[in-house]
Amino acid sequence: ITNSNLFTGTGSLLLGVIGDPIAHSKSPVMHQAALAALGLPGSYVPMHVKPEQVGEAIAGIKALGFRGINVTIPHKLEVIPYLDHLDETALRIGAVNTIVNDDGVLTGYNTDGIGYVRSLKEEAVPDLKGKRIMVLGAGGAARGIVYALSLESPNRITIANRTADKAQAMADEWKDQADIRGISMQQLASELGDIDILINTTSVGMHPNMSYSPVDVDLIPEQAVVSDLIYNPLQTKLLEGSEAKGCKVHGGLGMFVNQGAYALEYWTGLPAPVAAMRTAVLNSMA
Ligand code: ATR
Repeated sequence: ITNSNLFTGTGSLLLGVIGDPIAHSKSPVMHQAALAALGLPGSYVPMHVKPEQVGEAIAGIKALGFRGINVTIPHKLEVIPYLDHLDETALRIGAVNTIVNDDGVLTGYNTDGIGYVRSLKEEAVPDLKGKRIMVLGAGGAARGIVYALSLESPNRITIANRTADKAQAMADEWKDQADIRGISMQQLASELGDIDILINTTSVGMHPNMSYSPVDVDLIPEQAVVSDLIYNPLQTKLLEGSEAKGCKVHGGLGMFVNQGAYALEYWTGLPAPVAAMRTAVLNSMA
């Protein structure tokens, strides 16, 4: 890299992540491993930022010469007013997980959805064209994923949510680019027989509530691919039950690694060392 803009006055690339809480984030260990693998001098630091200090934190990114940061829960929407530009994907999703600082000009990106789709294609379903997809949940995570999936020419996307109105509202937003419907969790049982891919975006099954599945696995067809965004634990109740009945399964680790890989590529312009990043996360969980 010859672009001196990437580095601070000390010749070191400054990166980090803001969130509340932030202590358990795997992003620092993943990105430090990436910098080491690329041979780039730099640091990626976790920063605990309270909601009322998001504006000051973003101003600090410029003042301190950070090349970029990741943004995690609960700040993905709140950072937007403090940015100079939003890329098209972040604008359509309405959330930012990656900020790039070009000499004091901040641009917001969203790499969650594209990170997920890259992982799903690499690890489970190479071509999403014509697939019948069922998405569980209609929160922030679902937004990025449904938007990215809608660009892959699926046959249809159905969003099932506990609060059915939210699923319907999300479906309405992107119905111009895919066949998307919203349904309630009660309607789910009668719709599951007719799907190719089931994707859980809800927090049901996440540590520490690991004994729950967001759906009765008996209802899932054996030929379906079952995907869970949760990566802690790596093997959720939903994936365990689905695999036991013969379904192909896909966990959330690949999404996490790939959203980080895309972010790193925005910051450095270099291909991300994805294998080293994945290994670092896995080792930190062992
Ligand atoms: P995230 O950013 O992780 O998506 P979120 O925006 O709070 O977080 O969304 C959480 C999603 O999980 C929502 O779809 C939520 O359903 P509601 O919209 O009805 O709240 C879903 N969810 C959370 N806990 C749930 C539970 N116990 N049963 C079913 N759905 C649940």
